[in-house]
Amino acid sequence: MCETKVMKLMQKASFLRIHGDDDFKIIDCYQICGFKLEIGVDPSSGRGYGSLVWEAALGLCQYFEKEGIRFSDKKVIELGAGTGIVSILVALLGGDVTITDKPELLSGIERNVSFNIPSSFKPQVKVRALRWGLDINQFPSDYDYILCSDIMYIHDSIPLILETLLHLSNEKTTIYFASTLSYGKNVTRLGHVTLSQYFQTELVCRYGFKDINVYRMCLNTPTTLQLHI
Ligand SMILES: C[S@@+](CC[C@H](N)C(=O)[O-])C[C@H]1O[C@@H](n2cnc3c(N)ncnc32)[C@H](O)[C@@H]1O
Repeated sequence: MCETKVMKLMQKASFLRIHGDDDFKIIDCYQICGFKLEIGVDPSSGRGYGSLVWEAALGLCQYFEKEGIRFSDKKVIELGAGTGIVSILVALLGGDVTITDKPELLSGIERNVSFNIPSSFKPQVKVRALRWGLDINQFPSDYDYILCSDIMYIHDSIPLILETLLHLSNEKTTIYFASTLSYGKNVTRLGHVTLSQYFQTELVCRYGFKDINVYRMCLNTPTTLQLHI
């Protein structure tokens, strides 16, 4: 592993603070790419893992900052977006973003979008239900970027995530997939091995202390498949 790829993960910019709002009791604040993001989280909402910001999401945001990646006029979709932090940053960086998760997560994402994205940007942002493997036919296959952070930790989800990525991508699509490898025992590693049979996969950044890898992936074409035979 190249030492320069091992990064420190960004910290919250301020303390958690109580917000006088029935939707979000806690707001986490982050400084990234020159933006201050205020992300409502609610661990007691009963909406599952998606009501928190996971560290791979922070790793992906920080990777975009480090690399100076901009998304102007790019069509982007995020899977299992949770609070929506990654997509919100990508929308502020110019992307035309579809933020997806299970239906019960969408109201929280919409709140975070309205807190953080100026109304002039809002036409670029859609919040939609996408349950992996189930709703995929309601989405096209012409995305420039697909984003995923900490979504591969359950064994049964691996084929569903694979099916969803295969449906959404074409040979020009770039997937950025950040994963905390230590979650779900070996499921995350197994999932990435499975995906690497269908996508060319490159480790582009690692946050060693947190065991987070950021992968860049693109669909195997017949040419690249031949090279692997
Ligand atoms: C560990 S959280 C990560 C959330 C966010 N990506 C982050 O890094 O902060 C996993 C996310 O995947 C979503 N998820 C789990 N199973 C799903 C499924 N079958 N279809 C769509 N989303 C799913 C959860 O609702 C949750 O938001």
